[in-house]
Amino acid sequence: MKVAIVLGTRPEIIKMSPIIRALEEKEMEFFILHTGQHYSYNMDQVFFEQLKLPQPKYNLRVGSGTHAEETGKMIMGIEKVLMEEKPNIILVEGDTNTVVAGALASVKIGIHVGHVEAGLRSFDRSMPEEINRIVTDHVSDLLFTPTEIAKRNLIREGIAEDKIFLTGNTIVDAVYQNLQLAEAINTQFTENDYFLVTVHRQENTDNPVRLKNIIEGLKLVKEYFNIPIIYPIHPRTLKRIKEHGINTEGLNLIEPLDYLSFLKLESKAKLIFTDSGGVQEEACILKIPCVTLRYNTERPETIEVGANILAGTEPKEILKKAKIMINANRDWRNPFGDGNAGIKIINIINRINITA
Ligand code: UD1
Ligand code: UDP
Repeated sequence: MKVAIVLGTRPEIIKMSPIIRALEEKEMEFFILHTGQHYSYNMDQVFFEQLKLPQPKYNLRVGSGTHAEETGKMIMGIEKVLMEEKPNIILVEGDTNTVVAGALASVKIGIHVGHVEAGLRSFDRSMPEEINRIVTDHVSDLLFTPTEIAKRNLIREGIAEDKIFLTGNTIVDAVYQNLQLAEAINTQFTENDYFLVTVHRQENTDNPVRLKNIIEGLKLVKEYFNIPIIYPIHPRTLKRIKEHGINTEGLNLIEPLDYLSFLKLESKAKLIFTDSGGVQEEACILKIPCVTLRYNTERPETIEVGANILAGTEPKEILKKAKIMINANRDWRNPFGDGNAGIKIINIINRINITA
């Protein structure tokens, strides 16, 4: 049994890390194919070093571009590697261009596809991630869902139940495996109260009005609570802020952080503001209330348990939702699993004996 791990962005490296650990523990044959969708040191290599992951055997160095440029180049590069390596299965995680490219390249040459974090739906097809999720789920052979809701989404779309495996989300494994190490990290921020922010989604950054509104909303929050706002900024957002000439004075913008430093900042924050999928989940797991700067979420479990609220992007709404969440009762349950998703996924692949 030979497994190909196809990944390309920050969240995929983090969420694949428990699966890579499980493959190593079981001494299985595998290799990592990196598309190069993320390539800046602090969006890519830092995670391999910190999480002690083996280096990718292949890096396609596709880099940034339009959706078609990124996805097209990736499909061509992935196909070439898969035809040489002939793995029995490829695993992709999440909803990025790398994921849909991996799935399409693989399924068309008869190699099984396992989709980790299958079944998430925002029901908003204007999001590139939603298209990537739908396409990937519908061409995958094995669908590893994090929650019951995700499983129901797939069944509703006609996907055969015997392809679906409810495993939990590997982000829980990643948090549990790294939290103790994160606790030991010294940061200059965690001595006093602070709010933590991340924003990078296309619908928020490519629309100058929305991006300006989000920044205004964060400034309102800072003024009202008089608490510093720490914002490790994604390169995409920094680029747009500069392009649109948006004034971020008063907010503490810093470089994107390594995983342990970011986990530490999350775990000690008074509130988290985000449009990230992974950060909504981590806030919920770490019992830190979250204000999501979007109008929908494909992680409705976080809202159901009381860990998260949708604020949208209007400044006054952002402040209003922050006032609600600062008083949230933090005794919610973690809906994303028990921290053993990685090993469960690898056991399922072995049990099914995909080579037969
Ligand atoms: C991608 C995913 C998004 C995911 C995010 C994780 C798609 C469609 N989007 O968005 O779902 O939430 O990754 O972070 O796949 N850039 C750099 N250095 C890098 C990477 C990107 O400077 O290492 C800048 C470039 O200016 C680039 C821009 O960020 O044009 C966008 O990068 P891209 O990978 O296209 O999308 P993300 O916004 O990162
Ligand atoms: N993250 C990080 N450093 C940062 C910001 C985020 O290590 O400065 C981690 C975070 O802990 C989470 C993941 O990146 O595990 C989320 O990735 P991102 O927000 O880029 O993408 P999304 O989850 O929205 O696809």
